[in-house]
Amino acid sequence: MRKLSVTKLKPRMTLAKGIYTGDGRILLPTGTILQDSYIERLNQLDLKFVFITDELLAKAQIKEVISEPAWIDLQQAVRDLFNKVGKIHGINFDIIRQALDNIIYEIISNRDRLSNYCDWGHGEPLANHSVNVCILALMMGLKREYNIKQLEQLATGALLHDIGKALNNNSPQKTTGDHTTEGFQFLKDNDNIPLLSAHVAYQHHEKWDGSGLPRHLKGEAIHEYARIVAVADTYDSLIREHDLPPWAVIDHLKTLSGNSLDSELVELFLSIIPTFPLGTTVQLSTNEKGVVVDIPQENPDRPVVWMTDYFKQQTRELRLAEIPQINVIGIIID
Ligand SMILES: [Fe+2]
Ligand SMILES: [Fe+2]
Repeated sequence: MRKLSVTKLKPRMTLAKGIYTGDGRILLPTGTILQDSYIERLNQLDLKFVFITDELLAKAQIKEVISEPAWIDLQQAVRDLFNKVGKIHGINFDIIRQALDNIIYEIISNRDRLSNYCDWGHGEPLANHSVNVCILALMMGLKREYNIKQLEQLATGALLHDIGKALNNNSPQKTTGDHTTEGFQFLKDNDNIPLLSAHVAYQHHEKWDGSGLPRHLKGEAIHEYARIVAVADTYDSLIREHDLPPWAVIDHLKTLSGNSLDSELVELFLSIIPTFPLGTTVQLSTNEKGVVVDIPQENPDRPVVWMTDYFKQQTRELRLAEIPQINVIGIIID
């Protein structure tokens, strides 16, 4: 499979991954052969890329850290919770408990995989962001060798870190606009939410150098869960709101390392996130282009790249981890 811009789709291409609507309903299932009408519909959606099958790249199956149904279940549960929060008394956390447990289970089961971030659905932005941050934070917690209780506390905090924004959205009165304090005040009084998870909401905009908000906490005075969520939150926000490609965001994260973000945790994050996600077409320093088909765990910025010669119907493999003289110099948006 390979990743292709929606604007480049042509009739008779086959979808290698299903397309879902914002509320999680399936629009076009995996294996759909595209027609003009489908392509027109996809162009109307807020969707930049899709995955299409490619016979020469058929062996390059994308292995994700989480399954699509698990991502969608959690996204829907969070979206429903955020729609209700503040309008009714308290929150019923039970509605997301099962979906969250499934995500934790899948991430533990797939711990040998790297994230193929960016391709986890699309839909209501705050719910999407919350689920993405939760997944990235969990992967970091796992690398940190957290036990199950710690993973649950971290995941709960990561999932609800911006609940203050949902409260603001649902409030008929003007609020303080400080979503961290408001989120904390709301969560700390809820018996179903661990106090440390509430502190993630409170502290996720604090910065390592003390320049953050709301209390200007510094260094290790910021709880590690909140420092982890700050890295994941920064990454997801840069990708989604600023529309930067993953490699540019990674470069930017490196500049924040040791200033606003904990450098040890930025380094940890760089070990779970590929610079060039699977299925991406990359430009090599040899002037050739190829598709990323595998990413070595120990060297996530040196992918395995396949170059296809469609005329000769052949592919050639380059393992960049073994060829230091060849570099990826950019991403090609097909
Ligand atoms: Fe936030
Ligand atoms: Fe956030």
